[in-house]
Amino acid sequence: MNPKQRAAEAALPFIKDGMIVGLGTGSTTDYFIDALGAALRAGQLKSITGIPTSVASEQRARRLGIPLSTLAQYPATDITVDGADEVDPQLNLIKGLGGALLREKIVGQNSRKLIIVADSTKSVPALGSKSPLPVEVVPFCHESHVAFFRSLGGEPVLRMNFDGTPFLTDNHNFIYDTRFARINDPAALDVALKHRAGIVEHGLFIGLANVVLIGTENGVEQRVRSA
Ligand code: 5RP
Repeated sequence: MNPKQRAAEAALPFIKDGMIVGLGTGSTTDYFIDALGAALRAGQLKSITGIPTSVASEQRARRLGIPLSTLAQYPATDITVDGADEVDPQLNLIKGLGGALLREKIVGQNSRKLIIVADSTKSVPALGSKSPLPVEVVPFCHESHVAFFRSLGGEPVLRMNFDGTPFLTDNHNFIYDTRFARINDPAALDVALKHRAGIVEHGLFIGLANVVLIGTENGVEQRVRSA
């Protein structure tokens, strides 16, 4: 079993019968969705309702027969299991290289418990060490944000598809992958980005994750956020 799968499957024991479960997005979460589907089919879990964070996760869960709903029906999930691109020692995250950061944050902020599953390559001493910060923007005048990102110390690249067209999120927005040498003050960057018209959301998840499960070659390390 590879470290991503090991981390994802370690999240399964947190799920109990009757729970509303947020379904994150990405290759690690895919292992969790597969394990959840298998547990339901085997009768090991009953009456689970999934709330997907992307069209991709919705389609995967549907294929596996996981009953699905929305936050309109259930305003909060009991648990959400999601992946991450970076995890710092305070369990703050960068997310969104998979393009689903907006829906992931909406579901994550409406979760009683957010469990992050990742392999050890995602563990960093400070956010921005490895990953660019994905920032979702509306297409209208999106070029106007380039100078703004640079004024914050970032170097933005508009995410493109292989055919040369801009990558479109499930919400029909664009993403600027913005590289910072190191994000020393995630909270200040969060505020600066959120005050800019045209920026819909960004991939900094501050104070949202409760538990992080890091899969390694030998086992799973569990980190819990101190209150
Ligand atoms: C998608 C995400 C993913 O959770 C993140 O990119 C991790 O993906 P993977 O599990 O494939 O490494 O934030 O928007």
